Amino acid sequence: MPPPLAGVIGFPIGHSKSPILHGYWLKKLGISGYYVPLSMSQADFVDALRSLPKLGFKGVNVTLPHKLSALSVADSVTDRAALIGAANTLTFRDDGSISADNTDGYGFIQNLRQNAPEWDARRGPALVLGAGGASRAIISSLLSAGVTELRLANRTRQRAEMLADQFGAKIEVIDWNRASDAMDGVLTIVNTTSLGMTGQPELPVVLDAAPSDALVTDLVYTPIITKFLAAAEVRGLKTVDGLGMLLHQGVPGFELWFGQRPEVDEGLRQAILGA
Ligand code: ATR
Repeated sequence: MPPPLAGVIGFPIGHSKSPILHGYWLKKLGISGYYVPLSMSQADFVDALRSLPKLGFKGVNVTLPHKLSALSVADSVTDRAALIGAANTLTFRDDGSISADNTDGYGFIQNLRQNAPEWDARRGPALVLGAGGASRAIISSLLSAGVTELRLANRTRQRAEMLADQFGAKIEVIDWNRASDAMDGVLTIVNTTSLGMTGQPELPVVLDAAPSDALVTDLVYTPIITKFLAAAEVRGLKTVDGLGMLLHQGVPGFELWFGQRPEVDEGLRQAILGA
């Protein structure tokens, strides 16, 4: 049998860390497979995708701008991918059909479970900052994990209201400039915006009113400790950085394609940080 193949499709694709991530696991587990970056424009995406199983691919990750097309081209879609409205993990079945999943929310929750084992979503409300694509995965995973209430603040309030309409009564939309005042009893605080990323403005949310047992996490991982996380640490709050979400979201795909469940360990973090 030829070695199993998988990869990541995007446009552009040069910046993707997924080849390093999966390459680390293949080497560590001694699997003779390959995981490759595939640069593909939107116009060619569907045709290219259909040809991959014939070339020996077991599946692919999909990234921008294909996350929506990946959902519509799939023959079956997991509930969580349908809820999030985008796919990041495609698996090719033996009969040639394509199944689509979204593992971003799974990666988010696993990252918190690994790095803050005492954290339990069910113990209180969450405050989510941002209502873009990443936010949808975070909201759906927090709701599945059992948050009691979810406060959602976004610069463009209308986007937050659209998500509240979709995700239901546990969502309370908060004005963006009131986010710092919406921390009463909050146990989980998440930045899903791009603010705080290298080259972007800082997140204008202060943590003075956050409860002392709140967990603060940031999807931004460049820099690994954002100013937001640093401010949380100064306040003595538990923090979890966003790199682990990237690592954990890769686990389900790898297991499906290569047949072994990989681990997220310190060596992997260092491999990604050093890349
Ligand atoms: P992603 O898929 O990474 O979530 P996105 O869909 O473009 O990307 O969403 C980016 C998020 O960062 C949004 O919540 C966006 O707020 P708007 O909906 O108001 O655009 C937020 N964001 C980006 N730049 C921002 C800024 N300067 N101030 C406040 N929020 C910002």
